[in-house]
Amino acid sequence: MAQATTAQKITVTPLSHACGAEISGVDLTKDLTADVIRQIQDAWNEHIVLTFRGQNLSQEDQLRFASHFGPLGKRKQAPDQLKERTEGVLQLDPHVLLVSNKKVDGVPVGAFGDGDMWYHIDSGYTERPYAYTFLYGVELPTWGGDTLFSNMYMAYDAMPADLKQRIHGKRALHVHEYKRNEKVTVGTDLSNTPHWYHPVVITHPKTRRPSLFVDRLMTARIEGVSQQESDDILGQLYEIGEREDFVYAHKWQLGDFVMWDNLATIHARTYFPKEETRLLRRCTVDGDLVSAAA
Ligand SMILES: [Fe+2]
Repeated sequence: MAQATTAQKITVTPLSHACGAEISGVDLTKDLTADVIRQIQDAWNEHIVLTFRGQNLSQEDQLRFASHFGPLGKRKQAPDQLKERTEGVLQLDPHVLLVSNKKVDGVPVGAFGDGDMWYHIDSGYTERPYAYTFLYGVELPTWGGDTLFSNMYMAYDAMPADLKQRIHGKRALHVHEYKRNEKVTVGTDLSNTPHWYHPVVITHPKTRRPSLFVDRLMTARIEGVSQQESDDILGQLYEIGEREDFVYAHKWQLGDFVMWDNLATIHARTYFPKEETRLLRRCTVDGDLVSAAA
């Protein structure tokens, strides 16, 4: 006689009105059934950012879990003048990036240093930006270094009709030329700067919802309008995209695992003291070409 089995049910607890939900009842070091992965994917589509607390994840565990959601993304090669930002000495797997200010013998173990970091999309300057990003908390400062996530579906929905009209059908230039908390400036020669044009509003490939797709850190300008018009439009879009009521702020604890939808959110880092160590282990899942909203 077949033995009855009880399907595992995950618990999903929303963390804010904007986005974010905590998932409990799942040990990410274990093999998970297709049904549990489906429940997590469903919660992810709805809440954009998922958190798991008290995990004890090896790098191998992290990569295995992430690969349930698509092909693992590789670290992007930075242009020569920015190389030291991505070439940390402890990043031994091409799929792993250590977000850290930590140094060993004066050499960075990972990338992105210390201090605050403006809102951005991970690898938005590439033809196929990452679909998903996964971060695991390994070492944390005593204060600061929170990750802020803004819901870009809400940002799109909140745009006034005249602004929607102004950006209708427009694309924006995204560049890999950033200083973590300064506006990007680009000349006309982009031959040595990784860059890509994406629609200002995209259709999310899973939810089919329109999502605002610009960020303060790496979006240089709107295509086909004057610089003044571009600055004016982007200023308005950033103001809406970073509205506090669209943001979930994640305060890290050791053992936290956070995964987010890179096509439905922008994220930022708050300041933390540079004499303290912060180390988060990142991996990603590759995305496809992004498509414009209908
Ligand atoms: Fe990031």
